[in-house]
Amino acid sequence: MCGIVAAVTQRNITNFLINSIKKLEYRGYDSSGLAIIDNRNNIMRIRCVGKVDELIKKTNKKKIFGNIGVAHTRWATHGKVSKENTHPHISSNIVVVHNGIIENHSTLRHFLQKKGYIFSSDTDTEVIAHLLHWEQNKKKDSLKKVIQNSIKKLDGNYSMVIIDQNNPTRLIAARSKSPLIIGLGIEENFIASDQIALLHTTKRFIYLEEGDIAIVEKKNINIFNKDNFTIKRQKIISNIEHKSVEKGQYRHYMEKEIYEQPESIRNTLKNRLKNNNKIFFSELGLKANNIFYNTENIQIVACGTSYNAGMVSRYWFESLANIPCNVEIASEFSSRKLIVRKKSLLITLSQSGETADTLSALRYSKKLGYLGNLTICNMESSSLVKESDFYILTKAGLEIGVASTKSFTTQLTVLLMLVAKIINLKQENNDISKKIIETLNILPIRIEEILKKNTLIKNIANILANKKNMLFLGRGNQYPIAMEGALKLKEISYIHAEAYQSGELKHGPLALIDKNIPVIMIAPKNSLFEKNKKNIKEICSRGGLIYVFSNQEFDYEDNINVIKLPYVEELIAPIFYIIPLQLLAYYIALKKGTDIDQPRHLAKSVTVE
Ligand code: G6P
Repeated sequence: MCGIVAAVTQRNITNFLINSIKKLEYRGYDSSGLAIIDNRNNIMRIRCVGKVDELIKKTNKKKIFGNIGVAHTRWATHGKVSKENTHPHISSNIVVVHNGIIENHSTLRHFLQKKGYIFSSDTDTEVIAHLLHWEQNKKKDSLKKVIQNSIKKLDGNYSMVIIDQNNPTRLIAARSKSPLIIGLGIEENFIASDQIALLHTTKRFIYLEEGDIAIVEKKNINIFNKDNFTIKRQKIISNIEHKSVEKGQYRHYMEKEIYEQPESIRNTLKNRLKNNNKIFFSELGLKANNIFYNTENIQIVACGTSYNAGMVSRYWFESLANIPCNVEIASEFSSRKLIVRKKSLLITLSQSGETADTLSALRYSKKLGYLGNLTICNMESSSLVKESDFYILTKAGLEIGVASTKSFTTQLTVLLMLVAKIINLKQENNDISKKIIETLNILPIRIEEILKKNTLIKNIANILANKKNMLFLGRGNQYPIAMEGALKLKEISYIHAEAYQSGELKHGPLALIDKNIPVIMIAPKNSLFEKNKKNIKEICSRGGLIYVFSNQEFDYEDNINVIKLPYVEELIAPIFYIIPLQLLAYYIALKKGTDIDQPRHLAKSVTVE
């Protein structure tokens, strides 16, 4: 949560900071601020409620010249959205931006108040600023030592960057649990929560690791690990193109990302489907094959859209590979006593690889005796990838819209490949894995075909945009697609939407049916179709308003709206059927005029539990 940018530069820093922090809005966008030590050694701070555009307007009105500064975009945790609570926070000469939560902030606040500190915000970050100042004045140690002493007193997550007005030549960064990355320039250096913020200036990065403290100056970078030893961290050259951070011809990132799905899926499949009907993930070693071969149970843990992808895969693991599979929301997984089934593989699913609940679940699982853990993730440099035994990349490309789209369909693509791989490992020459591979090869074409139905979906969206509530129904592996469809709609259009298993309708939700609550039903031609048809009739006979997404002909005269979709193979039908639901949510939100890429109160990367 929250985005951090900091820099120590040759050039005037103001434009650099605002251009960079704008790129991190996906991490939080309720308020933003910056602080620069100007050329006369004054701390110049600008903060405002609202999106970074407000900060840009305000900053452009002032002429600030300086070469060192920090900026922050906030997703409120402690304290309401207000100017006072917006970062950076200052204690005399100390300036702090912070991403995370300090759990013992209230004890520290009382302690510091007794020492005479006066607080101007409700945030836990201001506690850090005053604590650093107090430590600095207590012993007159170096700022690095002051930070080391202070963080010993902090419980929680505290990735942060600090500048000291008394030594305005360096940034000091400390990483704990939320990501921080150093960008390398030419006689200037930068820090950010994500490389996306810095790609307009550099492609050379160093990822800080847990417990690292970095002193970053124009020409030098010194990193100390958690034991205070100087350490060299690997430099990487990013292969992300700066232009992939732009919207191009599209109105929203979400729209762009929906239409990118055929290409993302092609990238996900590339070099992984082999002619001998085997699946090859270059990032997995032989040890992983051994673990997969011995796996008798699977436990999937994830949040949000990634959880829905896990739910779909449960049907595949059980029906195709005969492996029992449980799926659990990460925050629940790590807050209860668990009974681990025999020879269980833990799989975490995450676009960002930084979701705090999923990371906590992974860390918790390590004490529980799983056979091993695998993460399926879109970000190679993420904490989940680093902390997992094995990883598989989804290769969706950068996803910036807060509501996930292409990361969902590429997760499903990887999961289906994994099912085939496990079948192959357990039983040589299996016909099912051969069929999976054949069908996956067709998937990008099928997605292209369904994307061509956009006008059909847009017309329905225009009719439904004024509704207050909607029900989504699905059966079998289309039930999690109904969940994902409802989630998309809630997230970006603010229409209340619930998903149910079609068969569960009669056990409660039927009471809601009337002409004002549209029911979106996913009913493809498959072995469950006849059962779905009965549910459709139950809704119609109660005067319900129903929209059926299907590739089946309907031969009866009920008052139903059928959205006739192209043919798709049953194996990949869940990946196919989410596309019209993504489009439906997108066009409804477009019609309503909501903030599609940055829906209210949400953030893309949720790094707090
Ligand atoms: C946030 C995002 C969702 C996402 C979820 C899990 O809530 O708004 O779009 O599905 O986090 O994120 P992850 O990066 O772990 O997939």
